[in-house]
Amino acid sequence: MSSPDQRSRSLLHVVGTRPNFVKAAPVIEALAGVEGLAQSLVHTGQHYDDVLSGSFFDELGLPDPDVNLGVGSGSHAVQTAEVMVRVEQVFEDVAPDRVFVYGDVNSTAAAALTAVKLHLPVAHVEAGLRSGDRSMPEEINRLVTDRIADVHFTTERDANENLAREGVDPAGIHFVGNVMIDALDRLRPAADSAAVRRRFALGEDRYIAVTLHRPRNVDDPDRLSSLLEALGHVQVAHDVRVVFPMHPRTAERVERFGLEEPAGAFTVIDPLGYLDFVGLMDGAAAVVTDSGGIQEETTVLGVPCLTVRPDTERPVTVREGTNRLFDGEPAGLADAVAERVSAGRDASRPELWDGRAAERIAGVVRDDLVGGR
Ligand code: UD1
Repeated sequence: MSSPDQRSRSLLHVVGTRPNFVKAAPVIEALAGVEGLAQSLVHTGQHYDDVLSGSFFDELGLPDPDVNLGVGSGSHAVQTAEVMVRVEQVFEDVAPDRVFVYGDVNSTAAAALTAVKLHLPVAHVEAGLRSGDRSMPEEINRLVTDRIADVHFTTERDANENLAREGVDPAGIHFVGNVMIDALDRLRPAADSAAVRRRFALGEDRYIAVTLHRPRNVDDPDRLSSLLEALGHVQVAHDVRVVFPMHPRTAERVERFGLEEPAGAFTVIDPLGYLDFVGLMDGAAAVVTDSGGIQEETTVLGVPCLTVRPDTERPVTVREGTNRLFDGEPAGLADAVAERVSAGRDASRPELWDGRAAERIAGVVRDDLVGGR
């Protein structure tokens, strides 16, 4: 991206999955304005399909990665270990002054762990979120990353409290706001929900947009089958169409478990690029999801959201936003969706979700890393 000269400081970003790309794009852009700072970008290759990776780089205006580690899919141990082995070499070659990691995916924890062992300071963007549910791989990734990171950029005050409780040095915690909302604010005008509606022949129909990909919801055949059945019921009973851009993980499980039949009750489409998905959310009567970032995006868009999980690491979206948790039996899903649809739109902006989080991060970097030499 930009090569370090003798006077400049260098910073290396590691990304690997769809949500990482969304978060890194505004940060890289804001840091490009910091004088004396060279940046490089490493893609671990955890996500590799164009629908989950390439199209995001194009639409978000991310620079091409300087290196793609080509790690791909695998068990948690394999994927984490592959990222560590391959990124170690890059860290040694580039010798950055700081490594930036994002969110809570396997690539995040693997890169952070590798960096600290090489004595490279780590900055974690979206630090401090806690669901309290250690059965989720993301919760473990968050705990590990925050424990070893030097600088913590947080999106909500609960995250600061979590970090303080865990003994993290307050001097390294910066409440900056939400970079995912920076990306949303920047690109929402380019997201055309009418075009998405036409493309999927939705006419004037009300519809709900669904994304489900968490192991807890999709890896157990009985649970996945009941959830799909319940979604089919939503369409029939509540006169609202169901549109489901299906994550490859979920599609693979549907096929493996032989569940094509119930899925035929609604519209299953391939995963969408960033702009199309924002358009789909923006035009929806409600969103049903188990994603993290979507809970935040729907809050700012004002679209009612039902999160199919017993807990959330993003409590501000429930307290102040449009998000509600659904922890009941799948059979109760249709009624919960109907309640969300009837709630109507109500946009809100939690503190510092103002589209300027990346700018604040750039300010910290300017003071700490470049100015502080
Ligand atoms: C990962 C993250 C999850 C995040 C999600 C965003 C972890 C532990 N999980 O989940 O937190 O919400 O990304 O999408 O890091 N696959 C493809 N093409 C790809 C990538 C994956 O088909 O480009 C399929 C493969 O069958 C693969 C499966 O999806 O085995 C799971 O991929 P993986 O990266 O392990 O986790 P995700 O479920 O995508």
